Amino acid sequence: MTVTGEAKLAGVMGWPIRHSRSPLIHGHWLERYNIDGAYIPFAVKPENVVAAFRALPKLGFSGTNVTLPHKLTAFQIVDVRDAAAEAIGAVNTVVVRPDGSLHGTNTDAPGLLAHLRASAPGWDAAAAPVMVLGAGGSTRAAIFALLGAGVPEVRLSNRTRAKAEALADAFGHKVKIIDWFERSNALASCGLLVNTTSLGMTGQPALDIVLEDLPGGAVVYDIVYSPLETPLLATARARGNQGIDGLGMLLHQATSGFEAWFGVKPVVDEKLRDVILANLT
Ligand code: ATR
Repeated sequence: MTVTGEAKLAGVMGWPIRHSRSPLIHGHWLERYNIDGAYIPFAVKPENVVAAFRALPKLGFSGTNVTLPHKLTAFQIVDVRDAAAEAIGAVNTVVVRPDGSLHGTNTDAPGLLAHLRASAPGWDAAAAPVMVLGAGGSTRAAIFALLGAGVPEVRLSNRTRAKAEALADAFGHKVKIIDWFERSNALASCGLLVNTTSLGMTGQPALDIVLEDLPGGAVVYDIVYSPLETPLLATARARGNQGIDGLGMLLHQATSGFEAWFGVKPVVDEKLRDVILANLT
């Protein structure tokens, strides 16, 4: 692919950055849609990140993704934040506006929802409570997405209860705290279980939960994507529940940034999934 002097430019800022899959995702789409553009990994130390953000419009960049540990700094430094960024308290996508100002959003919530709707079209947000495990940054994104989709109740359980309480305070009365030791018992009547903890990830213990009370029609969504088949998903599928892995969220969360920077709404398909999978293993 040729990059001309008129190429549109974007990238991903993090420290370290070499593990980021975003250049692969965006690079795949740039090629697929034959776009005159480039997506660059930026390894930016924390002490340089403010200057790096401010340099984006000066260098003619259309924007950037933001990954660890810069999502909070991005939140603080952008000129405008949307509702998702405000609710989640972190910015993972920055778009440079024509006047040079920086617009910050968080695409994890729409990414999760788009992936969920594409994978489980029969899931009815309004029909039943949702159980969410965890209380980190991705938990905030999940709760924001689910409440926005119209779920009647979020049952939130986290090992450290105080962190779950802080989220319940932020998101309001639809979020009900479940003690960590009660997590298995609270699955009755749920239409969806979402794991946003790091449990089940390579190198971490499995999530310890008994699915006996989870209705057979419920969907189980694991935000973990390495490995793709976590012990939670294996158990869920073995008893007939639909299981969805976290890779789709990583892919779907990238679409809105790509569209804003390069002007094409990209498709998440098996081909893209295969490209990323080949790189994960
Ligand atoms: P994020 O990447 O979403 O920001 P994080 O802040 O790293 O996530 O949080 C990881 C989540 O996994 C937390 O909810 C954490 O629980 P605590 O808040 O109690 O730390 C959860 N987690 C990690 N290891 C765990 C374990 N061994 N048992 C239970 N929960 C665990």
